[in-house]
Amino acid sequence: MQKLLVVLFAAFLSSLAAANEVAIAPTVSAAGLPPLGATWLSENPYRGNPLAPAIGQQAYNQACARCHGADASTNAAPAPDLRNLNRFCRRIADAELNAACLRDNDAYFAKTVRHGKIIVGVTHMPPWEGVLKQELAWAIQVFFESRVTGRRE
Ligand code: HEC
Repeated sequence: MQKLLVVLFAAFLSSLAAANEVAIAPTVSAAGLPPLGATWLSENPYRGNPLAPAIGQQAYNQACARCHGADASTNAAPAPDLRNLNRFCRRIADAELNAACLRDNDAYFAKTVRHGKIIVGVTHMPPWEGVLKQELAWAIQVFFESRVTGRRE
């Protein structure tokens, strides 16, 4: 009986995962953002670009919101609140150290988005490489960073 329950539970979990784990490309144009080509950068080239937040918002809501929460403005979603991603950098007042922290953060963001989060064989987040254009990925990061409130945590 116990074994049966375990098997049923595992089947239930994998059916949940199968329904969620597909990466679906957003239908958003990156027109207006400087094109970046196929090789992924490790630093966000769009901070300060006035077009990036709106393009990123549309792409985020189509591709990321179902797990990370609508408009990057809730911490009640099943996946981590992305506004927290550079929280540790925001605490660093020294400009040079802060820039170094953001560079590490960007590299982690790019790596995570490209390869997804597959942990002991379970896909928590699908890989986005080949599905999501890097222009949209960086615009998404600019968007959710724009949702961070002014408070230094
Ligand atoms: C199918 C659900 C799902 C979708 C869709 C999804 N993610 Fe995720 N993502 C997750 C989960 C779950 C985690 C946490 C995985 C873990 O660490 O166990 C995660 C983690 C991340 C992380 C690392 C967060 C951290 O604190 O370390 C980043 C960055 C990220 N996702 C970006 C994105 C972006 C950008 C999109 C849209 C292009 C996206 N995700 C779409 C489920 C999803």
